[in-house]
Formats: sequence, C-alpha cells, structure tokens
Amino acid sequence: MLATMGALGLAPTAEAASREPVFRAPRTGDFTLTGRGAASVVIVGGGIAGLTAAYELGKAGYDCTVLEARDRTGGRNFTVRGGDSSVDVYGNRQTARFGDGQYLNAGPARIPQWMVTLDYCRELGVPIEVFTNTNANAYLFNEKAGMTAPVRYRTAKADVYGYVSELLAKATGKGALDTELTAEDRERLLEFLRSFGDIGAELSYGGSERRGYRVDPAAAGTPGVELGSVPTASEVFASGVGRYFSFEFGYDQAMLMFQPVGGMDRIPAALTRAVGERRIQTGAVVRDITDKARGVTVTYRSDGRTRTLDADYCVAALPPNILATTAHNLGAGVQSALEACTPSSAGKIGLEYRNRWWETDHRIYGGITETDLDLAHVWYPSHGHHGRRGVIVGYYNTGAQADAYARLTPSGREARAVAQGVKIHGEKYRSELVSSFSHHWRQTPYLEASWHSLAGGPDAPVFDPLNKPTGHVYFAGDYLSYADAWQHGAFTSARRAVMALHTRVLA
Ligand code: ALA
Repeated sequence: MLATMGALGLAPTAEAASREPVFRAPRTGDFTLTGRGAASVVIVGGGIAGLTAAYELGKAGYDCTVLEARDRTGGRNFTVRGGDSSVDVYGNRQTARFGDGQYLNAGPARIPQWMVTLDYCRELGVPIEVFTNTNANAYLFNEKAGMTAPVRYRTAKADVYGYVSELLAKATGKGALDTELTAEDRERLLEFLRSFGDIGAELSYGGSERRGYRVDPAAAGTPGVELGSVPTASEVFASGVGRYFSFEFGYDQAMLMFQPVGGMDRIPAALTRAVGERRIQTGAVVRDITDKARGVTVTYRSDGRTRTLDADYCVAALPPNILATTAHNLGAGVQSALEACTPSSAGKIGLEYRNRWWETDHRIYGGITETDLDLAHVWYPSHGHHGRRGVIVGYYNTGAQADAYARLTPSGREARAVAQGVKIHGEKYRSELVSSFSHHWRQTPYLEASWHSLAGGPDAPVFDPLNKPTGHVYFAGDYLSYADAWQHGAFTSARRAVMALHTRVLA
C-alpha cells in the first residue's frame, strides 16, 4: 500500500525526499482498493487556500463545505469594478464608480512564470496576458534626494551603468584589481564594461543614445537630438535612482509576468464555479473550532443566527491573525504559533482617468514608476492600451505609509495621492481624474493583514503545530509557505494539506 501510495505521490519515497513532493490531485479511483470512502470536510475561509482545498478534495468526491465570512470568495484576491462596495474597520464606506471594463486588482496583481498560479489558470480556463512589471519609459523620482523632475528608467540606467563601468574600468587600469584578476581576466572585464556601460574605447562615460532623445530619430534629415545635460557621477549617485534596479532581478519579480484577462478575481471566480456555489456559504463568520474524538465541530454566525457544522475533518484556511482570535481547543502550541505570525500592511488606490494621457503624452505603456514619495509605487495599466479610459494604481505602499493613508478618509487619500502624483506627471494627473477607489488590507474586516511575517520562516520550530494536523484540523495559507504574499504560497500550502489529509483517509 505504501509503495503504491508512493508511486501515486501520496507517500514519501526515497527519491522524493530530495525534492519537492509531486502533487497528484486526489481521485475517486484512489478509494477503489481501500474499501474507504471520501470524508466530509469543513473548510474555514474562502480565499485561495480554502477554495483550492475544496477544489482538489472535491476531485475525489470529498463532501466539502466552505465557510467564508465576507460576502464574496477570493480573500485578498479582490478585483474592484464599478458598483463594488467595501467598508473598512474605521467605517469608511466606498462604492467604486469605475466605467465598464475598468478595474483595480486591490490584492494580487502579477504572476511570475514559474508559479503554480499559472497552472491553475490553465486548468481552470482563465485566459492570461502579459503584466508589464518593468518599463524603460517609466519614471524614477526621489524628492527627498533633491530631484526636481522625474527621470526615465532608461536614462537612469544609462547613467548608473555608465559611471559604474567607467569607475571599475579606471580601477582596473590602475592595477587595483591585479590581485583578484589575471591579465586575461582584466581584458575580458574591460570588454564587458565597454558594452555594459557604453563607455567606448577611452573607457569614460559621457552620456549615450541609451539615455533617450529630446527629438526622436525619424526620416532622412531628422537624425534625432539626444537628451542633453548629462549629470556628473556624483549627481547620479546622490539622486539614489540606482536603488530600484535590483527589483527586476528578483526570482519572483523578473519579467515576463502575467495577469488574468479582465481581473485577478477571474481565478477565485473559476475556483468557486468548479467547487460549486452550493458548497460555499458566504457571510458565515466562524466563532469556534472544536476538535473531537471523531471529527470536528465548527460554530459560526450567519443571518443573525448561531449554527454548527459537524465534519470528519477541517481545513483552517483563515489568516493566522484572525484564527488567533477565534475560539478553539487546538492547544497552546497552535495558539502561540498563530500569535507569532505578524500581520503586515499594504494599500492601493485606483485612479480612473477619462483618457490615457500617460500613453499619448508620456509614451508609457504599462510598467511601474518608483518614487521615494509616500506613494512608493505607481502602476500604469498593462492592458486596454489605446482605449478610452484607464485605471492607474496611484499608490501601492506598505507599512507605515499604507497605514497613514488608511487613516485618511477615501477622499483625503485621493487628494493626497493626486497631489503627490502631480509632482511626477504634471497637472493632467489632477484634471483628467474621474474617480478613485482605495483599499487597505490591514483595515479590511475578516482579513486585517496584507500578508504576514514569520520569524525564521514557516519551518521554524514555533510553527510546527501549524505544519501538521491537530486532531482532525489541518492548516493552510500562503503564510505557511516560502511564497507568502503570493497566491502560489496559498495554492501549494493547500495542496500540502490536501495530500496529508487524503493520505490519512486512504490509510
Ligand atoms: N507579491 C506581492 C507583490 O508582488 C507582495 O507585490
């Protein structure tokens, strides 16, 4: 039996110990030889982890019920369209007035190619398109560093790479690296620097066409006019523009990246359809999880009444900070582990414009402007190019910056975000605005976190009680993964819980 289960990917094999367990979804056929049947499972939380647990267990005929406190599934996967409403923990109510086809992905908004999120898009038939995570034409603007105007990424990169190359070439020429490099190494390094920094045979940076043009090259007679006034090396380093370049090197942020066509919530919508609406209760606020000798009882509030649900097993897929305030009999170790997960803050504002001035006036088609203003990141839409309207993410900030915006009223957030954004984009940032919608995760009821930090990672000893079942209760969520703050973390954590539960039922 164990060998068979090993071959099915349901039990460890010697070979499997050295790599990530291969996930094979439970199937009804798995029960054929065991004489057992699928169990009933109550899944607490209808975010990506909870929906995935229900979806995968449902493939083998498990009788799943999902309890979701909010009026919609998806958890932090939240796409805001015209007519959508929200109320934050301070009581601020907003209703989005975005036009047809316009939306804001308030939570997850980009998917790297290696993440299983794309496998679920493929399996569920969710069409995807490229998400533009970096754009040479987007801006950098560091007001605190004394910049008075934004600079384009391409210009900043040309200058930083140019001067770094020149300095390294000079150091090499003066023999500073002679103990590190052979003569042949030095020649190869110089050859690399000449092209990397565009520093020519004389190994000095004096600007280059990579910085961009004031007048773009065109037909004969119009060779183009390069951007003038190349800053000094000292000015370039003082501006701090180079601090943003490493972002695109990250394993989880490098292009290409993707987004579902029409909004990120196409993913939970497809999962919800696949699980079956009748198996999902929204507006169900879980108050207590009690593990028993034979199964588990979950108590919840719904429609003003207290109800209970008995099942063989439970998958607890709530954010840990919310689970920590829910009554349970799962022990002090579980409670300490939940309390050791520190919730983080993040917020976004969607600014809808009556025309796409960033495309026509600035030639920016998607990508991100980085700034040391409290906006942090400004995103241009990666879709709908040349359309009539568009939604810019006016800020995507975290920590204290996000909390400061959350404390303002929605109109106060808009006013501040626009005043800041005008410094980069000019007056159209104000004059062409038609509506806005802001969302802050630490201040969102039933979630109260954008993501979580776990000191030492999810395998640190304090989190042990969450990485194995307590009685009949399993835990799942992106926080129990090495990809927290990514749907990939929620998908893979749910798969792990599903494999453990199914293996136990089969055994
Ligand atoms: N995964 C989140 C992002 O890409 C944190 O912004």
